[in-house]
Amino acid sequence: MEAIILAGGFGTRLRPFTYTRAKSLLPILNKPMISYLIDSLPEEVDKVILAVNYRKNQIERYFRENDFGKEIIVNDEPKPLGTGGAVKFAEKHITGRFLVLNSDIICSLHLDDMVKFHIENNAVSTISLWPVENVSEFGVADVEDNGNIVGFVEKPKPEDAPSDFINAGAYLLEPEILDYIETDRLISMEKEIFPQIISDTERFFGFKFDGYWMDIGRISSYLDVHRFLIRKNKMENYLGRNCEIHGDLKDCCIGDNVYIGSNSKLNSTIVYDNARIEDSAVLNNCVVGENCKIGSHSNLKDSVFGDNETIADDSIMNKEVVWTQPVPEGYPKKQIGNVIGE
Ligand code: GTP
Repeated sequence: MEAIILAGGFGTRLRPFTYTRAKSLLPILNKPMISYLIDSLPEEVDKVILAVNYRKNQIERYFRENDFGKEIIVNDEPKPLGTGGAVKFAEKHITGRFLVLNSDIICSLHLDDMVKFHIENNAVSTISLWPVENVSEFGVADVEDNGNIVGFVEKPKPEDAPSDFINAGAYLLEPEILDYIETDRLISMEKEIFPQIISDTERFFGFKFDGYWMDIGRISSYLDVHRFLIRKNKMENYLGRNCEIHGDLKDCCIGDNVYIGSNSKLNSTIVYDNARIEDSAVLNNCVVGENCKIGSHSNLKDSVFGDNETIADDSIMNKEVVWTQPVPEGYPKKQIGNVIGE
């Protein structure tokens, strides 16, 4: 079976870290986000098609250097085609029923169970469903008791929501679905293709699952997933190799070769490789990029520092995004494709 992994987005909401790397390679507990997804693939998936565009060379290199025991095809889109266009562009590699997976989700979905459910229901399309409290931020599925989805309602008021289940970013599709997608155009699978399949086939199903689901779309969810996994693994912190740590840490993830000076206090903070945090710095809910230098006696809260930035001694910052270098050419100013909002 083939799996298409959607990994071509710019990840604009995760800038400045996506200025320098593909979103799917952003580390989670020091391992690229996409590696969690590959590890969760059912054994019957023998071919993985990476639908890439932005920073494709980094993704290609990562898979050249790391063997996951499956055939990997890097399918480079000439321009961003959106989630639907990317699936259509992978058509030449599809030989039968196939999976489509967003690369920015960490969850406990068992894809094997979803495949079984799809076959039992003779579905043409099955999507994973996850319950949320804040329905008005999402496309909400109108789902019957047997799992049949009869429609989606975009960002409903809570009292108008047909359910509390949203699209959780994993799809199992029969190949005839490809006929619904036009070639060579930016198309949203969720907004343009799914509604058509529902009305034409009535064999569009939703698979609900238990456990956890986290969409790593924003810096806040990037920090949340770290806190969640650190606690799930019953750890105080997650530490990389060759670190020199003299300060106090709680719920932090620290990359390789990091120096943290004495009397510094870090809480719920992610520090990338080769960063240096000087004495008596206090960081709460921050992400510190690769090779950053954080000056002594700094007090930093809810802030992010892109790769290679230097923060002066005694700095005080709250809710700042620090990026003093040029923005990469062609990087969009705002979200393209499925606009979700800041
Ligand atoms: P934002 O700009 O912050 O919204 O992030 P994003 O570009 O990743 O978009 P979004 O979160 O909606 O993407 C959901 C998934 O689809 C992610 O795994 C993206 O990598 C992927 N994706 C989004 N747009 C494209 C595209 O045009 N081509 C491909 N191949 N993948 C895409």
